[in-house]
Amino acid sequence: MELTHIEHLGIAVKSLDEAIPYYEQMLGLKCYSIEEVADQKVKTAFFKIGQTKIELLESTDPEGTIAKFIEKRGEGIHHIAFATPSVKDSLEELSAKGVRLIDKEPRRGAEGLNIAFLHPKSTQGVLTEICEDPNKK
Ligand code: CO
Repeated sequence: MELTHIEHLGIAVKSLDEAIPYYEQMLGLKCYSIEEVADQKVKTAFFKIGQTKIELLESTDPEGTIAKFIEKRGEGIHHIAFATPSVKDSLEELSAKGVRLIDKEPRRGAEGLNIAFLHPKSTQGVLTEICEDPNKK
């Protein structure tokens, strides 16, 4: 396994409109992108800090996973995403080692990244995403 850095932290929020001013005005970060990811039923807002990003996630559907997460656990850190040179290779390696996968194949995430989620039952309770930037090849 060859993870290179923490690509982003995913943070579940009730409202981007309420959360963005905190990151901008209190923390001095700049929201550089807002994107809706329809198949994940979320609207995302991105901030950069070093080579790591903060990904705020607002649900666009009361039945969506982010809405359910907030209902159960409140707003807060939802997942950690590690960068890997190849999601496909990492998934194969992790699967061979017995890690439970949510996504058996890479899929398309926000910002055009290839992503896959590992099951929190296999990751000490931390929902874990691995992702790869296909433009960095
Ligand atoms: Co993410």
